[in-house]
Formats: sequence, structure tokens, C-alpha cells
Amino acid sequence: MSHLSVNHLLGIKQLNKNDIELILNTAQNFKEVINRPIKKVPSLRDLTVANLFFENSTRTRLSFELAQKRLSADVVNFSASNSSVKKGETLVDTVNNILAMKVDMVVMRHASPGAAIFLAKRVNAKIINAGDGAHEHPTQALLDAFSIQEKLGSIKGKKIVIVGDILHSRVALSNIFCLQKLGAHVKVCGPQTLIPKFITSLGVEVESDLRKALEWCDVANMLRIQLERQDIKYFPTLREYTMMYGLNKEILDSLSKKIVVMHPGPINRGVEITSDVADSQQSIILDQVENGVAVRMAVMFLLAGRQGN
Ligand code: CP
Repeated sequence: MSHLSVNHLLGIKQLNKNDIELILNTAQNFKEVINRPIKKVPSLRDLTVANLFFENSTRTRLSFELAQKRLSADVVNFSASNSSVKKGETLVDTVNNILAMKVDMVVMRHASPGAAIFLAKRVNAKIINAGDGAHEHPTQALLDAFSIQEKLGSIKGKKIVIVGDILHSRVALSNIFCLQKLGAHVKVCGPQTLIPKFITSLGVEVESDLRKALEWCDVANMLRIQLERQDIKYFPTLREYTMMYGLNKEILDSLSKKIVVMHPGPINRGVEITSDVADSQQSIILDQVENGVAVRMAVMFLLAGRQGN
């Protein structure tokens, strides 16, 4: 199969296993391309992509823009903070005005869960969800899966624990969907107040003890506490959170096997992960960032339907 079953990338929930494998295999080819001296290919020449960021981003935004440039697409960037959104323009009006300038594909990050799905039903362009509130972050999950596969050879049968603020995390939900579709076992670990009640209905086990979770897993994906999405206190202090759920070198070195450590970024060093763990040989955090470009190239290339060209 060389075509995706979807017209947009709204979430991992909408993808099937073949879609995910097609994206990961295509990303492997693009990873080879971006490691060549000449990193650019003409695959998306004549395609115009708008990057619409209504929320802050470093990795996702730069990674999409680099991916578009490596594919020879034309790129326009939009930030809500210095746009006419501040004058009251709606999301659909904003996007339709941008599309009137002959834009073919929209990459959007938005604080509202479901914003990408809402847009895909109302505008005539390919939509890629670059993170919608606490809902989904599909390209993060795809680059995480690519990075695990690259490090461990395969995902099927592997044990992955996602640690931290699961309740407010779009990375957690997209990772759960993606890893399960690829045959991995997924657990979550964190304070009870930061684990959503629905999580077990997804076939995910909950482990409240960090050490037990780490002894069980092959890979630990450490998440940031999303203070900006927390309207109430979910734990007494950050210091206590770190004592219970922070990953430090002493714990890592005391485990009976060498696990792989991941983090989607941005990192709060010294809170969910110490610097010596983040920068250790067991960490693949910068591999995740590198792989993000290849994975996003694959997503845009496949959605544009350029495989036959
Ligand atoms: N991982 C991630 O989405 O990072 P940014 O918020 O910097 O894009």
C-alpha cells in the first residue's frame, strides 16, 4: 500500500496500522535524504503550505518548516499573537483568507481540542494537526514511534511507560493510540490526580510507583508537568512531584536493565528529569527531534499524494 486511508492528519485515532507503517517507512527514506550533503528534494515543488500556530512551539514549528523547505514547498508562517485574530477574526475566516492566497495545506497548532477536526470540515485544504489542546499531537507520536523503532529494531511487544501529566497531555494520547496500533504494551505512571479516569478503557494499565514502572518497561517517555493547562493544584509542590515521579541518574542506574529514555520537550530540567539523565547515553531526546523532520516530510509528502509523481 502506498496511499494513506485519510485526507488529513487530524489524530492517530483516525489512522490504521498500514497508514502508520507507510509513514514510518517513508520517513526512513527521507531520513537518508536529509543526511546527504544536498538535503533538498523537489517532491513538493509548486505546493504551498501555511503553518498556523495559535500556541507556542519551538520543535514542531521549526521541524515542519524545515521539512517543507527540504521538500521544496513554498511556506508561509502565521502567529496568532501578531495577527488579526487579536481584532476578533474567527478561525474559519482566518484560514479561508489564507487559503484565498492559494494555499494547499495547513499545519495548525491550537489550544482547543478538536480545532483541527473542526477546520477540516469547513475549509478546502489538507489539514495537519500540530497539537490541539490536550487532545492529540499525531506527528509527535509518529516521530516517537520512529525513534523507538530505530533504537530497538521494532515496536511490537515492547513495553513503554509514559510518566507524568497524562491528564493534560496530547502527546500521551497520541502515543497510546500509535504504540498500541503497532503492537506495543503501554502503561502510564503518575499521581492519581494527573491520570484521566478513561485511560483504562483504552487498554492502558496504570502504575502509581515509578520504580515498578521503570523495572517493567523497555522505554520510559517522561512528560512535562503542563502548569499552563492546570487551573487547580494537582499535587502539593513541584518538589514533591520530583521526589515521587522525577527520573534521576541514581534510579536509572539502579534498574536491572538499561532502558531507553525519551522526552517530547520542552524539558523542565530537574523536575521530571535531571540533566544527567536527559544528556545520558540512554536518552534519545535529540534523536526524536532529528527524526521529527523526516517524519513530517513523510506526512506532508503522503498527504499531498505525490507518490506517483
Ligand atoms: N514536542 C513539542 O511539541 O514541542 P514544541 O511545543 O516546542 O513544538
